[in-house]
Amino acid sequence: MKEEKFKKQEEFIEKIRTSNFTRHPFYYILTMGCQLNENDSEKLCGMLEQMGYYKTEEMAQADIILFNTCCVRENAEEKLFGKLGEVKKLKEQKGTIVAVGGCMMQEEHIVEKLKKSYPFCDIVFGTHTLYQFPQDLYEVLNKHKTVQDILQIDGEVIEGLPIKRNDPYKASVTIMNGCNNFCTYCIVPYVRGRERSRDPKDILDEIESLAKQGYKEVTLLGQNVNSYVGNGNLGIYRFSDLLRAVNKIEGIEIIRFISPHPKDFKDDVIEAIRDCKKVSRLVHLPLQSGSSKVLKAMNRKYTKEQYLELVEKMKQQIPGVTFSTDIIVGFPGETDEDLEDTLDVVRKVNFEQVFMFIYSRRVGTVADKMENQIPEEIKHKRFDKLKQLVESQIEQNNKKYIGTVQNVLIEGKSKNNPEMLSGRTDTNKVVVLKGTEKDIGTILPVTIVSEHMWYLKGEKHPL
Ligand code: 5AD
Ligand code: SF4
Repeated sequence: MKEEKFKKQEEFIEKIRTSNFTRHPFYYILTMGCQLNENDSEKLCGMLEQMGYYKTEEMAQADIILFNTCCVRENAEEKLFGKLGEVKKLKEQKGTIVAVGGCMMQEEHIVEKLKKSYPFCDIVFGTHTLYQFPQDLYEVLNKHKTVQDILQIDGEVIEGLPIKRNDPYKASVTIMNGCNNFCTYCIVPYVRGRERSRDPKDILDEIESLAKQGYKEVTLLGQNVNSYVGNGNLGIYRFSDLLRAVNKIEGIEIIRFISPHPKDFKDDVIEAIRDCKKVSRLVHLPLQSGSSKVLKAMNRKYTKEQYLELVEKMKQQIPGVTFSTDIIVGFPGETDEDLEDTLDVVRKVNFEQVFMFIYSRRVGTVADKMENQIPEEIKHKRFDKLKQLVESQIEQNNKKYIGTVQNVLIEGKSKNNPEMLSGRTDTNKVVVLKGTEKDIGTILPVTIVSEHMWYLKGEKHPL
């Protein structure tokens, strides 16, 4: 039934593919933002390649230029408008088709700005209508009109889309769309709508097929994965049930998930991580702030103490567990003391990795209307203070790896040195080592010999 929705698109894919038979057209895609957006882009690439387009890294070579946008922070907007400025010339010179999609297109003020300042965009599509891209493109190609394809209500989960994955050994699988939490700083619930969980059978089929294709690692994606509730032929699945089921899939060796919400991290999920050996011992647990006052203003629904208790409980129940996190500095009303609370949590948890963000005002959110906004200069000073602490911790943590043997999924040749291979530990640390092509795509025991801030150096451990 759900696949039926995409059937109609397959007709458009076929029509465009036929018209491309005697050509070798190219597409260029730029993805901004999170892994969910990356996963959406993989689907766009899948559709484009079925339609006979080939990927290029050069905008000037492309017949279609596609921007898949993000709106979580302001800098993505600046980037998009900068890129559209560049594209304008290409459009004038060779009539390149320009398509802009993703989260930013769910914001009315952005679509208005596009219409006014960048009227040459041929397709503007939102997050709920991504699957209709073939039809939108067909209309541009054959009816020579521009298409605006944005739905303000929540789209259903559409199954059966083709996908062209970025990596050969690790894959992302979206398990749910949307978010119900309305953290006061966050635009996501407005642009991605309410939570919709995929049918567990569809997820498990997808992962089984990945395993058959040789994939070793999967990352389960969602804005709030631990409130996943799937319902279908297999009955009701909670997130913990899903973890246990994926853990049984032969061939898959590493399971990751982003992002859970601390408030929903119930015992069944902790027990599932404990019991499932393939689930990574690096758990991403977004903190956002270490101050209970700021957390309340953010509508995060936990306190500093509750967060620390959860970490302690997990450390006790899951031997070897480590954490990564997201932190925002400069939220309205944050004081120096509030920042100290954040630094205190960072010291206590000793995160393996911290994604640090400067608070960015988002039109339409509750926090944007708060009066006690923090001046940019102070936000930057606080960011630097946090960064200093995080970097010193990473350095310390890296030292602990020296002399240990880590299981490393070898992902390919190192980007900076093609003589070397590069992979990742279970805790997501980059490891660079000597090896042969045969090692790529395997999980090897590697002895860590030195540390270099953003990567570790290793040697293959004799088997
Ligand atoms: N400003 C800064 N960072 C933000 N994030 C979400 N919204 C904002 C914002 N308005 C961060 C949060 C979230 C991550 C994906 O992005 O830390 O976990
Ligand atoms: Fe945004 Fe909060 Fe939902 Fe995460 S949980 S997507 S931060 S509203």
